[in-house]
Amino acid sequence: MSDLNVIVIAGGLSPEREVSLRSGSRVADALRRAGGVEVELRDIGKDLLPALAADAPSVVFPVLHGVAGEDGTIKEVLELAGVPYVGARPYACRTAFDKTTAKAILQEAGLQTPESVTLPKQAFHDLGAAELTARVLARLGPDLFVKPRACGSAFGVSRVESPEDLPQALMTCFAYHDEALIERRVTGTEIAVGVADLGDGPRALPAVEIDAGTGLYDYTARYTPGAVEFHCPARLPAEVAQEAARVAVAAHEALGLLDLSRTDAIVTEAGEVFVLETNVAPGMTETSTYPMALAEAGLDFGVFCRDLAAQAAHRHDLSA
Ligand SMILES: Nc1ncnc2c1ncn2[C@@H]1O[C@H](COP(=O)(O)OP(=O)(O)O)[C@@H](O)[C@H]1O
Ligand SMILES: [Mg+2]
Repeated sequence: MSDLNVIVIAGGLSPEREVSLRSGSRVADALRRAGGVEVELRDIGKDLLPALAADAPSVVFPVLHGVAGEDGTIKEVLELAGVPYVGARPYACRTAFDKTTAKAILQEAGLQTPESVTLPKQAFHDLGAAELTARVLARLGPDLFVKPRACGSAFGVSRVESPEDLPQALMTCFAYHDEALIERRVTGTEIAVGVADLGDGPRALPAVEIDAGTGLYDYTARYTPGAVEFHCPARLPAEVAQEAARVAVAAHEALGLLDLSRTDAIVTEAGEVFVLETNVAPGMTETSTYPMALAEAGLDFGVFCRDLAAQAAHRHDLSA
């Protein structure tokens, strides 16, 4: 039997390099265990394009997070190299990774996202930080989240609880991106809803509930085992769980994604689902929610990855 030849790409140079390396080695190990696959794990580097040219794999499985991993760059590069890959195409990645643009598309599709404004660092400089932050607070109120327009793993994300916190939150954000997305905080239950498409259309996996207690679901909480309590399936009434599933699939479709995605959302007490973002390369580490949801759905992680890889390998003529 001729094996499927898969190159898993992980690492890269984003602040999420470490997470990506962990996700990538987990995907590679699971693929090996599933069998019927030849797997090679590679990092981003000058040797990548020559390696793809010398010995083209059947398919590439990119497990890169953050800029260059999720903003479409790696997909653009793989299309140049003429190699099929798992996941969404460059334009869709770029759109989903840009939270401000993605929010507009999701709203256009009838989905709810927290009310927000997006402002560049320069505007605070040109117009006066005090004047501009006063207008932001008047519009959105003092209970806010400030985050980079495009980033991940909660880097540069701060919760603002009173007006005095806003300047520091903006400074933190601008260390990661020149534009700040300032959102009204939505209170409720945080969930992550994976979507998988194994050839019969996108379907939602069981929602994972994330309970970070009184803390933030920040980088440390995400990747420290035991720091967060997860419930899978999320403890939601059946009709709310169904609505969360509908929203995640609708987000995947509205953003034009392929194969897999994960939508992060907050469910209010009234059962409304507010989308925070949709990720094109969900984390695959030991503490990541996507593999938890696959397990809850009764899908073997390695077999699932192999099925995605096999389907992507047969997706023809990506350059068209
Ligand atoms: N508007 C909001 N209301 C409530 N919580 C939020 C809001 N925005 C972000 N958060 C919290 O911050 C975390 C990171 O935000 P998110 O937009 O998902 O960025 P990242 O790309 O860094 O994961 C979320 O998992 C959630 O806990
Ligand atoms: Mg998120």
